Amino acid sequence: MPMKSKKKKENQLIKIENFIDFNQTIKPEEETFQKLMFIYAMAIKQLKTKLEILKDEFEIFYNYDLIDHLNTRIKEPKSILTKMKKRGIPLTYQEMIENINDIAGIRIVCPLKKDIFSIKDLIQNMIDVNILKEKDYITYPKKSGYSSYHLIVEVPVNLSKQNIYVKVEIQIRTIAMDFWSTLEHKVKYKPEEKIGKQESKEWVNCAKMINKLDNKMMLLN
Ligand code: GTP
Ligand code: MG
Repeated sequence: MPMKSKKKKENQLIKIENFIDFNQTIKPEEETFQKLMFIYAMAIKQLKTKLEILKDEFEIFYNYDLIDHLNTRIKEPKSILTKMKKRGIPLTYQEMIENINDIAGIRIVCPLKKDIFSIKDLIQNMIDVNILKEKDYITYPKKSGYSSYHLIVEVPVNLSKQNIYVKVEIQIRTIAMDFWSTLEHKVKYKPEEKIGKQESKEWVNCAKMINKLDNKMMLLN
């Protein structure tokens, strides 16, 4: 049978900014907003699958639990707008896409501290994932005691007429730190009551204990 000649690819790879009418004001009830959120959701779907493949590969090929579990979320429209208002950013789609990097979020939770760096390296080597920003709160925990590795990456979402680059925030942390940060986040962001200085200190102390625990657990393993 004659071989088919390779057809040149017609779809362009574009930035998400070029997908919509830029300077419009954000209206969450509008179709434009919903289409945008769909694209962010597809970016998560794609990246999540890649990470699940890694998780399974390590279990099946190396009998090693590199990743305990993954969580994903899309930022609520209300939270997006609140963040933009807080930062004094004009409420347009353009500004949202350029400035809000955590509309799509994936959290990777792993057993040991050293796994975090392995996962980071594995993501770095993924062929169609570009790292835009990194923050190493593992080597340098925040004042609050918070410790995680953060990456802002972009991944292409392949639609019928365009391939669009979309930003995703990845947080990589240990099971123990995930336990702390989930609780601390809830307490810190409770709108009704602000926590006192003493209680705040206790949270920092707990984070420090968890960091110690994580270091010990790594040596044991
Ligand atoms: P935002 O906090 O998202 O406005 O951005 P940023 O530029 O300050 O980013 P950073 O990478 O420092 O933090 C991003 C996310 O990490 C936050 O939205 C939280 O989910 C998480 N995070 C950062 N600091 C803390 C902390 O002290 N405690 C907890 N529980 N989570 C934190
Ligand atoms: Mg955030």
